[in-house]
Amino acid sequence: MTEVFSDLERSAIRAEFPFLEGRAYLNYASVGPLPRRARRQIDAINDTFERLDRNFDTETDAAARRAREASAQLVGGPVAGVGLLPNTSFGLNWALGFLQPKPGEAVLISDQEFPALRYAVLHLQHFGVRTHTVPVPPYGGLTPPDLEMHLSRHPEIKLVATSWVAFQSGYRCDVEGLAEVTHRHGAHFILDGIQGIGTRPLLAQSQGVDVVSGAVHKWLCCPVGMALAWCRPELLETHTSPWAGWMAVDWDADYGQLLGPPREMNRGPRAAESGTVNFAGVRAMAESTSWLAQLGPERIRRHTEDLVDLLHAQLDLDRYEWLSDRDPAHRSSIVCLRPRHGEADRLRRFLSERGLVTSVREGALRISPHFPTERSDIEHLVQSLHEFE
Ligand SMILES: Cc1ncc(COP(=O)(O)O)c(C=O)c1O
Repeated sequence: MTEVFSDLERSAIRAEFPFLEGRAYLNYASVGPLPRRARRQIDAINDTFERLDRNFDTETDAAARRAREASAQLVGGPVAGVGLLPNTSFGLNWALGFLQPKPGEAVLISDQEFPALRYAVLHLQHFGVRTHTVPVPPYGGLTPPDLEMHLSRHPEIKLVATSWVAFQSGYRCDVEGLAEVTHRHGAHFILDGIQGIGTRPLLAQSQGVDVVSGAVHKWLCCPVGMALAWCRPELLETHTSPWAGWMAVDWDADYGQLLGPPREMNRGPRAAESGTVNFAGVRAMAESTSWLAQLGPERIRRHTEDLVDLLHAQLDLDRYEWLSDRDPAHRSSIVCLRPRHGEADRLRRFLSERGLVTSVREGALRISPHFPTERSDIEHLVQSLHEFE
């Protein structure tokens, strides 16, 4: 099989993650490691704050611009729609306020949704907005025909919100199909993108996503405490950010004159960049997201799919139940397995003792490889899975 990344690229990638020597890290769905290039940015800003001997505003402004541009490439939409926020939940709450369902209206989610979305939506009950929860199979998800049925019967549903990739199963929903049905019924479509952005191209603009939010500390290998949010440009004209602040204005890193007539304010998620930013986070995010955008989400997808196919081809399926959807339209970089004999928790500890880092979600072993993962990591995993009793 031809490798997606050249030998030169592979050794450059591995050099960014020295901790991977002697360890097979297969847990990107929990948190991604910080590459050296991002770590250097954090060290540099900490040095600056220790000494305060140089201007840090211009550099941070430039880093924020780079992070927004890379985010736009990664979500597949114009940069005007991007804002840099602290986490997924912040962006989802912002999206709910921006699209503003009214009392008596409802938001549709599935019953397998990660709590970040679920609780943000449930909270709307205090404003008279109902949550319409749709049951879906544990290793499946919301489908366009199901959605069609619910929206036809419940015209009060004005928002549909879902994860792109489900955290506990790896099921990747049909973004374009769901967005099409949603819009046909006069509703808006919100995506929690955290488990997919960086693993493969998202085409948010052409596939009809209205708002997407996702933290960047998993598949985008950034520090915790940073996220991207994006909304489609048409909405910038018709909808208003539920909040803003002094940093929702473009000061061009010049804070000498802050008073006087109000300046024009940014719109969309950028208006929600309301106050002083996380300097270290923004600078490290610029570094990691630009690197991943340049490596290319399509190549990352191909690399990871090859690894998942290798796992599927070599694994003894009499000993392990493969729970995640194998359909090319729904697969992702998350694979869940259940040992037919023995407990997933004990299996995770067994693998960990062999240098294999995985996690357990809802009683299944969750394996999440990414672009730094090697074929030898998967071979080591298969061998260890077959030794488990
Ligand atoms: C689907 C999904 N959404 C959201 C989150 C996290 O949300 P937040 O960034 O707000 O902590 C996770 C995982 O941590 C997740 O898997």
